[in-house]
This record gives sequence, structure tokens and C-alpha cells, in this order.
Amino acid sequence: MKGKIVVTGGAGYIGSHTTVELQNAGYEVVIVDNLSNSNAGVIDGIEKISGIRPAFEKVDCTDKEALTGVFNKYPGIKGIIHFAASKAVGESVHKPLLYYKNNIVSLLNLLELMPENKVEGIVFSSSCTVYGQPEILPVDEMAPIQPALSPYGNTKQIDEEIIRDAIYAKAPYKSIILRYFNPIGAHPTAEIGELPNGVPQNLIPYLTQTAIGIRKELSVYGDDYNTPDGSCIRDYINVVDLAKAHVVAVNRIVENKSESKLEYFNLGTGTGVSVLELINAFEKSTGVKVPHKIVGRREGDIEQIWANPCYANTVLGWTAAESIEDTLKSAWSWQLKLREKGIM
Ligand code: NAD
Ligand code: WQD
Repeated sequence: MKGKIVVTGGAGYIGSHTTVELQNAGYEVVIVDNLSNSNAGVIDGIEKISGIRPAFEKVDCTDKEALTGVFNKYPGIKGIIHFAASKAVGESVHKPLLYYKNNIVSLLNLLELMPENKVEGIVFSSSCTVYGQPEILPVDEMAPIQPALSPYGNTKQIDEEIIRDAIYAKAPYKSIILRYFNPIGAHPTAEIGELPNGVPQNLIPYLTQTAIGIRKELSVYGDDYNTPDGSCIRDYINVVDLAKAHVVAVNRIVENKSESKLEYFNLGTGTGVSVLELINAFEKSTGVKVPHKIVGRREGDIEQIWANPCYANTVLGWTAAESIEDTLKSAWSWQLKLREKGIM
């Protein structure tokens, strides 16, 4: 065993895939999740893939006493990957205090508990949303941070600042801040994947639900942007590729390879794909049609963004490997699995 890692939000979409990859790499994982956006069945899915049942604590990260109990129960935690957060952009506009409390208090509690428990570092889930609409594309880590467009986006910026200030103030731990572009797809076994809550706001779950007939048609939000086909461009990254980057980041912390105590990495493929191109790629790779219509722009949408992933490629030695076709096929297999299980 390489050591114990706490994965907050480990029952969630990215956290579950990361848990599998950490276990494959020889880490012992302790999942801390309040199941506010997931369910305990995800732990079974993880065990089916890796053959190892991760320790699971149903704990809310805003509850410092309960978190203290986790560190006492599992002595010698080497690192934390902090996924636990509320993440629905639209909801955050209507319930800002819920977002500020959940996403900021959780981080503060972890940072306060790290020194007394001698945890070596924390990997933090940030987002390309911090760049807003970048002037220069592809966007690299040196690009300016733009004012957030939602309370959710603001929590990611504030959390990044909290970590930065703590480390400048000589906190005895390291941090790696990972800025994800658009994670999509599911584990190739279809044992774990994204569990959308209610009507999906994100493109891929809406698309696969339309393809299977749960939704009548997919609305494409705008075809009059300044892009080659007029629809918005994003950098869609396979969730297993993304998960693997977390293992590299954890290795970097526990093996003392970080060049400084605080590092930032963009996690994307480096390729921008438009909404219309994505629908096409889905139809081609799965053979399933996606009824869709063009509607007006969605408020607050960024026109186009994709990553310059060179820093992660060279410094972490990590590159997104999966093709968009295979990634979309995995999203479709997951949707079929949800139907088979009677979940959707
Ligand atoms: P998710 O909702 O599937 O997973 C988050 C998990 O955290 C859930 O299982 C939820 O139950 C848990 N959780 C939430 N609040 C908690 C709390 N206070 N205590 C304990 N557990 C709590 O989301 P995800 O897509 O896996 O995202 C993981 C992280 O990555 C989040 O921080 C999110 O903001 C960030 N992120 C996600 C995306 C994306 O598109 N999915 C993009 C950029 C960044
Ligand atoms: C992708 C593209 C839409 C739905 C959001 C958050 C961001 C990050 C990832 C966490 C856009 C278009 C979508 C639909 C559509 N999360 N679309 N019809 O907006 O890039 O990012 O999730 O940090 O912070 O803002 O992702 O999947 O919602 O949209 O045409 O029904 O698909 O306009 O161009 P987005 P998304």
C-alpha cells in the first residue's frame, strides 16, 4: 500500500472514478461524502471495478467535529483530494448562501485539520470557469482570472485564494489546484458514471437522455456565436483521463516531487469541440440519433474555451488519451446501464 488518501466527494462523479484509479495505483482510499448528490450504491460500483471496497464515511465536510472523527479513525492520512462541493451553476444563483457555506466551510475545515494530522497535501477541484472568456485561446495557467459569473464560480475562485493565502502564510502542506475543463463520459465498465439530479443542465447528460427518449429534444443554445459553426466551443475531457491526473498529482505530493508548495494545472485535451460537432460525433460513434433544435443563447455562457494542457503534459507527464468518440460511447453505455437498472 502506498498510503491512505481521503477523497471527499468520493461517491460523486469525478470522485468515484478517481477512487478506482487511486486503488489501481495502490492507494488506500477513505471516501468522505454526505451523499447530498450521490448514493451509497456508487461504493458497490467502485468495488466491482477495482475489487477493493473503499472505506466510506457518511460525513458532511462542513461538520468539523465529524471530520475530526474521520482523521482519528484513520490515522496517517497522507493526502486529501477535495471534490466535495455543490456544483450546479444555476442553483447557485438562487441559493448563494448554500454554495458559499458548503464550498468554503468544507475547505476551511480540511485546511484547519491538515497540520494537526500531518497531512502532506491537498489536491483541489477547480474549474476553467475561473478564466471566464479568455482573450487568448487555448488558455494556459497564466491567463488572468476573470470576475465570476455565478456564486458557484465565485466559490472556486475564493477557495483557490484561501489555499494560496494559507500556503503563503507557511502552512505545513502542499497543494495542487487542478482546473478541469468539461469532464464527460463514464467508466468503460459502465459500473460508475454521472448521476444527474433532476433535469440535467449539462450538455452530455441532456444529450444521452434525449437519445434514449427521456427528453423530447436537445436545445442547442445558440448558433450565432463567433465560432466556425456558430455554436459554443468547449474542451470535453474523458472522466477516466481526468481521474488519472489526480493520481499523478497525489504521487507528486507524497513523493515530494512538487516544484513549489502550490501548483496549478489545466486539465483538458487541448482541442475545442462545438456543440454541433459533439452531437455529430455522438451520432456517428453510437449510431443513435439525437433530436435537436437551435434555440437562443443561454445566459452567462462562455462563447469558446479550450485548454492549453502543455504544462500538465510536460510537468505532470499526463496527457488526455481517450478519443472523443470512445468517450461519447462510454457516456451512452452508462445511459443504457441506468435504464437497465431502472434508474432512468
Ligand atoms: P458530484 O456532485 O458528482 O460530486 C460531488 C460529491 O460531493 C457528491 O457525491 C456529493 O454528495 C458530495 N458532497 C457535496 N457536498 C458535500 C459536503 N459538504 N460534505 C461531503 N460530501 C459532499 O460532482 P463532480 O462533477 O464529481 O464534481 C467534483 C468536483 O469537481 C466539485 O468540486 C466540482 O465543483 C468540481 N468540478 C466539476 C466539474 C464538472 O463539470 N463535473 C467541472 C469543474 C470542476
Ligand atoms: C456545454 C455547452 C452550452 C446544455 C458548466 C459550468 C462549469 C463547469 C462545467 C464546474 C455550452 C451547451 C448545454 C444544453 C446546450 N462545472 N448546451 N444545450 O456551461 O461549459 O460549464 O459545467 O465547474 O463551471 O458552468 O457546461 O455542459 O452546461 O454546456 O447547447 O441543453 O453545451 O451552451 O456551450 P459549461 P455545459
